Amino acid sequence: MRKHMLSRREFLKHSSLTGLGTALILGVTPSLYANLVKDAATPALLGGQPVRTKGWPEWPMWNPATDEERVLEVLRSGVWSRNDVVEEFEEKWAQVIGTKRCLGTTNGTHALITSLHVLGVGAGDEVLVPPYTFVATVAAILQNNAMPVFVDVDRETFQIDPAKLEDKITPNTRAILPVHILGLPADMPAINAVAEKHDLVVLEDACQAWLAEINHQRVGSFGDLGCFSFQNSKNIPIGESGAIVGDDDQLMDKAFSFHNFGRPHGSVTGNGYVMAGTKCRMAEYQAAIGLAQLQRLEEQTKTRNENAAYLTSQIKDIPGILPHRLYDGVTQAAYHLYPFRYDPDGFSGLPREKFLTALRKEGIPCSDGYTPLNTMPYLADAFKSRAFQKTYPASQLNFENYKQQNSCPENDQLTKEAVWLFQNMLLGTRSDMDDIAAAISKIHQHADDLV
Ligand SMILES: Cc1ncc(COP(=O)(O)O)c(C=O)c1O
Repeated sequence: MRKHMLSRREFLKHSSLTGLGTALILGVTPSLYANLVKDAATPALLGGQPVRTKGWPEWPMWNPATDEERVLEVLRSGVWSRNDVVEEFEEKWAQVIGTKRCLGTTNGTHALITSLHVLGVGAGDEVLVPPYTFVATVAAILQNNAMPVFVDVDRETFQIDPAKLEDKITPNTRAILPVHILGLPADMPAINAVAEKHDLVVLEDACQAWLAEINHQRVGSFGDLGCFSFQNSKNIPIGESGAIVGDDDQLMDKAFSFHNFGRPHGSVTGNGYVMAGTKCRMAEYQAAIGLAQLQRLEEQTKTRNENAAYLTSQIKDIPGILPHRLYDGVTQAAYHLYPFRYDPDGFSGLPREKFLTALRKEGIPCSDGYTPLNTMPYLADAFKSRAFQKTYPASQLNFENYKQQNSCPENDQLTKEAVWLFQNMLLGTRSDMDDIAAAISKIHQHADDLV
């Protein structure tokens, strides 16, 4: 597999011969030159020079000239609770996603909790959800006293596998909660077809997928409702905030009421309560930051997509690097994260953790991503609650049974092989992408030494 690669010794010999003339021209002695070459060629983890010493685009970004003015305006107005600026943000976000309505919320987690509630998901209901996601997706199901049922993933795309949905449907199944994880679209046409066939509601967790598209339709607009997060690390960062989008006026009115103490839609204050609610409103200064951030989102998303495609083209042939796959019909991804899978066999058996350490030492930030959410103690803890104990039969709450029934072997494997790079890195230049590819390549060439 690796026979086309130069061995470390051949690589050094090759580098020394081609570079010796340059060294002599520059007046560097051959022995000093040999050391310099060695340093550049040696993995940083083994004491060599890193591929990259400069930083990456900082996150979050803001433009003092335009963004600060908008926020200061709100600050000086003294109107900080939900008002006109939140409404302006909601109108814009609905327009951006292509839905009739949008509701701003405190965060993505409460956007999900609210959405499930107004979709009628509650005690005794089962919700189909992928295990490869952030814990908030599953927490939102548990908060509604519903039962998460894990559906295994497609490792190539990192998304819920639509072919595995039907096996998990029971008479208690009420909803599918697909997640466009990492900002790559899940296969919504296939998911919606299953939902339609079995009369299930669909809530999209698009908390990492702003502007991601399938056939030019933006994710969040495929399901009955869609949710977004604008937390600090997100591609549209507000610090904390979220949104629900949808076309159904009744559902969106209900979501408004639920998020505002149960007051009727359109009444932010007042004493008329039409339903039992909570409070998870977006604030005016959050909306002001969001409106400012929105100005850059389209262009930044384009840059991330271009750089992601270029990076893939540069690393796809390195043995042991398995790039992610986008579903047919995906016209844009959000790339909150740039993932690939790592196979140690292509790297002389170098374990993933050591590969990641070596990559970081070369100046490339990276992560090993999620751990399996379908087997963790938070589930057993939720099952011990009085609400769960009263709602579900003991056999369903037996955690060993639950883990068996919810086993997701593909996800177990994915969590062992995933490597993530971060969205801000994709806002760099082509030469920044070349640095990433060079670092991976360097580690590959020196895998034997690193092992
Ligand atoms: C997939 C997913 N769902 C839900 C959330 C929750 O969003 P928030 O942090 O805004 O509550 C996040 C946030 O990281 C997320 O990544």
